[in-house]
Amino acid sequence: MIDLIPAPQKVSWSPPAPGYESLDADTHLEARAGTEGVARWLRATLGAATGLPFPDGNHTDNRIVLSVEPDLAPEAYRVVIDGYARRIEGGSAAGVFWGAQTFRQLLGPDAYRRAPVRPGQKWELPRVTIEDAPRFRWRGLMLDVARHFMPKDGVLRYLDLMAAHKLNVFHFHLTDDQGWRVEIKRHPRLTEVGSWRARTKFGHRASPLWDERPHGGYYTQDDIREIVAYAAERHIAVVPEIDVPGHSQAAIAAYPELGNTDVIDTTALSVWDTWGINPNVLAPTDNTLRFYEGVFEEILELFPADAAPFSSFVHVGGDECPKEQWRRSPVAQSRIKELSLADEDELQSWFIRHFDAWLTARGRRLIGWDEILEGGLAPGAAVSSWRGYQGGITAARAGHDVVMCPEQQVYLDHRQDGGADEPVPIGYVRTLEDVYRFEPVPPELAPEEARHVIGTQANLWTEVMEDQGRVDYQAFPRLAAFAEVTWSALPPPAERDFAGFERRMGAHYERLDALGVAYRPATGPRPWQRRPGVLGRPIEGAPPNV
Ligand code: ACM
Repeated sequence: MIDLIPAPQKVSWSPPAPGYESLDADTHLEARAGTEGVARWLRATLGAATGLPFPDGNHTDNRIVLSVEPDLAPEAYRVVIDGYARRIEGGSAAGVFWGAQTFRQLLGPDAYRRAPVRPGQKWELPRVTIEDAPRFRWRGLMLDVARHFMPKDGVLRYLDLMAAHKLNVFHFHLTDDQGWRVEIKRHPRLTEVGSWRARTKFGHRASPLWDERPHGGYYTQDDIREIVAYAAERHIAVVPEIDVPGHSQAAIAAYPELGNTDVIDTTALSVWDTWGINPNVLAPTDNTLRFYEGVFEEILELFPADAAPFSSFVHVGGDECPKEQWRRSPVAQSRIKELSLADEDELQSWFIRHFDAWLTARGRRLIGWDEILEGGLAPGAAVSSWRGYQGGITAARAGHDVVMCPEQQVYLDHRQDGGADEPVPIGYVRTLEDVYRFEPVPPELAPEEARHVIGTQANLWTEVMEDQGRVDYQAFPRLAAFAEVTWSALPPPAERDFAGFERRMGAHYERLDALGVAYRPATGPRPWQRRPGVLGRPIEGAPPNV
């Protein structure tokens, strides 16, 4: 009946009969207790698109009523358009906000613009009642701003795009070998030195091309506070990731004493300018622990636990930490002996456990990539399962919370078509339909284990995404399919109505056009979206184009 994405649980025509009604300059807005933030968003967003003022008032049926209703679950909502006051009701302000997103979709694609484009346009609403609630609590998007920096405005824009798709966790990958993107006052060299690199590999590792321009950028602490507050106003938690003990060359370039100085000359390291798994990892010393405790102290202040549900989580990375330097380092080996550890995997586990205890003592929760399972999982830790489902299955069976984000399904940096025109194609071919048929809960989990799958997220790694347009291209339209997977109560993968989703995408492409999203058209990349001659990364041993 109405081409909503993500699909709501239930839509019906409001009695007595199908029909439409309009918003106009007399449409008032009544924001009941607890909905003031949603009213601010609605007035700013729909006010800009429509040019309508939405004055306060409750004296007329020509109004929108926002209210928190205790019969609804926190993120559930009800939108009622029935010829009387239009109601947007939620179980909490978050539910009201998701209802407001649906309300915006009902108004048509021009509601996604920032100014009116048609003088005298009628803003019609269908007389429907929509009842809806999300399937998963953690509906995430990870953005890597380390490999390529996304300026603050772009991040705020992505938060708006997430909100429009009812996604509520922004996993902010802030540090890596190729850049450190958050100002830390007590360690200024992290951004002075670590936030930029002299040149950048253009294409994946095998590419011979270089972009010889310096690349960099970072968020000041006030930028971060602004991003977190902007997200919170949209009921989105920002989960910062500070990657340890691997993926740390930018930090080591800034502070060489953080590296394994007894193995290599860490003063010769610079911020990495190419891609892959980097051997230069943190030294497991007291100095490193104290340094990162200092970093995390500032991070906890910047990312308050109560900003939104899941804001208590802090991601510590933990992925892809080669152990070669630790094997050769007398300092690391004596640490292993002193702690009576079996091997370097247990040393990594000790490192992660240290921060698990440190974060737990401060009322926070650690989350890390599934490698943190190796050598023993820290007691309070949650796991981002990326190397397939297995890490998540193991963690859930051990009673740990899991966010499913298997690279084979929801790494949106991977190519979305097998054709030769895909820009810098990497990884698996994962089409819009593949993402639509992604199932976050593996069937082998028993119901009580499956409860630990608190949700799912799509991940955007930006090695081959040099600007916002490239990020848009990789993210969309697949993020719309992902949003439906995470929000809507879809049947098992094989039974999903992909044809119906594609039909609804017709309306959604118009919304994305109005938002200025540089998505991949269904017919393939536009000429300027191609990157002819720039090598990607086939997966070794896989069939051609995988
Ligand atoms: C990852 O993709 N290395 C988490």
